[in-house]
Amino acid sequence: MKQNLTLERRRFIKTFAFATAYSALLGKTWTDSLAAEIRTLAVSTTGTLRLKLSNFPALQDESGSVRLAINPLRADLMPDGQFYPVIINRGPSNTFFALNSRCTHESCAIPPMEAFTNQMVCPCHGSIFGIDGRRISGLATSALSKYTVKFDGADLLEVQIPSLGYSITGSNVQSAGGGNPRLRLDFRALRKVEYEVLYRESLDKQATATSFSATADGAADQTAFSSTTTANVSLFVERQSPAGFYMVAVRVNEI
Ligand code: FES
Repeated sequence: MKQNLTLERRRFIKTFAFATAYSALLGKTWTDSLAAEIRTLAVSTTGTLRLKLSNFPALQDESGSVRLAINPLRADLMPDGQFYPVIINRGPSNTFFALNSRCTHESCAIPPMEAFTNQMVCPCHGSIFGIDGRRISGLATSALSKYTVKFDGADLLEVQIPSLGYSITGSNVQSAGGGNPRLRLDFRALRKVEYEVLYRESLDKQATATSFSATADGAADQTAFSSTTTANVSLFVERQSPAGFYMVAVRVNEI
């Protein structure tokens, strides 16, 4: 099972998480630790970015635009990682466009749309694109690529990001030093994507960030994790209660 999550906490107005999955060990005790139970979640290669428009003042009105970074953006306007920022533009009558910001000329990341022209202008050589990503003029010869987007008509916007999905495997482990029982979360971390671990007691409760360790016996005091290469990784959390849901979430920054 795969869960997506929209965080509404204030500190995540600019940095929030999505594409989560969960690992639940409901009703299990820690005496059957050491990987006594392992649950593998369904694999999806697509991550769903779920935005609450109310968290983004720029998207409240027609011609609004935001740019969301999954990977850091370098000074040369290329992403440090495989993901270009995602541009979301609001058109008339509750229409939304989600675009890959990679310019189709020489791949510079283009900025959000200018509200007064409804256009995006590439900072490298000046190619111009329309609100829906179509090419208007310049050296670029084709439109920006689009992501599938769905709006619930009220406040929730969903954007499908190919290649961002991942699955989580959770297993009980006992730290070698005899400390508290831990849950190990295994997943494939994408290069330079920042992850955090969230916990919620039940599905109707709000998720909160929880600290973790990147090693089985290290202090569980990390709050963010990123890998310099795409790799299978494990994060370790100390169990907070016999039941609950642990999720690994991607952090996204508005830039
Ligand atoms: S890279 Fe955008 S116009 Fe050249």
